[in-house]
Amino acid sequence: MLSHIQQHLADHPWCDRVHWYAEIGSTNDLARQMACEGCPSGTCILAGKQTDGHGRMGRSFSSPDGMGVYLSCILRPNCKPEQLMHLTCAAAVVAADAVKDAAGIDCSIKWTNDLVVGTKKLGGILTSLQIDPNTGLVSAAILGIGINCLQSKGDFPPELRDMATSLAMHAKRCDPAALSAALIRRLQQMDGQLREKKQIMASYKDRCVTLGKEVSWLAGDTLHHGTALALDENGGLVLQLSDGTTKIAAVG
Ligand code: BTN
Repeated sequence: MLSHIQQHLADHPWCDRVHWYAEIGSTNDLARQMACEGCPSGTCILAGKQTDGHGRMGRSFSSPDGMGVYLSCILRPNCKPEQLMHLTCAAAVVAADAVKDAAGIDCSIKWTNDLVVGTKKLGGILTSLQIDPNTGLVSAAILGIGINCLQSKGDFPPELRDMATSLAMHAKRCDPAALSAALIRRLQQMDGQLREKKQIMASYKDRCVTLGKEVSWLAGDTLHHGTALALDENGGLVLQLSDGTTKIAAVG
């Protein structure tokens, strides 16, 4: 698999920074560890299978063998954490663009971190930052992307069957190696533009299907209901609540 991905990345500056594992707990967990050990920016970790793939709020991410792309990329933006509040949105734009490049499909983004086709989940994003305690600057940004590629409906666990989808269910071409390489190319482009928040948020907004919809939002122990009106500059969702007030749901 590694050689297939690298064939698609010939001459790419990150070609030798790709690490592939047949089986791993979570690519994000290994990425955090490798970032602490000093790996270079652009290091990408991919796995054939994850036994502990996870998403936001402690949810698991189904990562069966050979069925999807499970990738974590380490960037070293060396800026203040406040400048990267939109990181999850940036990774979602990367993933949607790479899906278009490799499979020809226009997927959408469900705020904050779900890739969807129609109403069904195609994949998800999980990002985190490491901060240098001496400088307060970001020493590493981890961008984790999981995309369902080859599953048929029956390959998903029964509880996900009506909610999940894969590229194979929509696209004529869906080669995981080609998608992995497309993601790495798009990640490298994003690395150079990460501070261009306005442009990134405009691309995110173009793909976001949540605006105008009724949403429920858990803040602490309280469940709020409202209409999604807009996105703020950091990817926060501006909601109009039923009592007429507005609130911003921050990116978690
Ligand atoms: C979500 O659905 O809430 C986010 C899912 C993110 C899954 C990807 S797969 C690669 C990386 N490793 C993980 O454990 N999670 C991310």
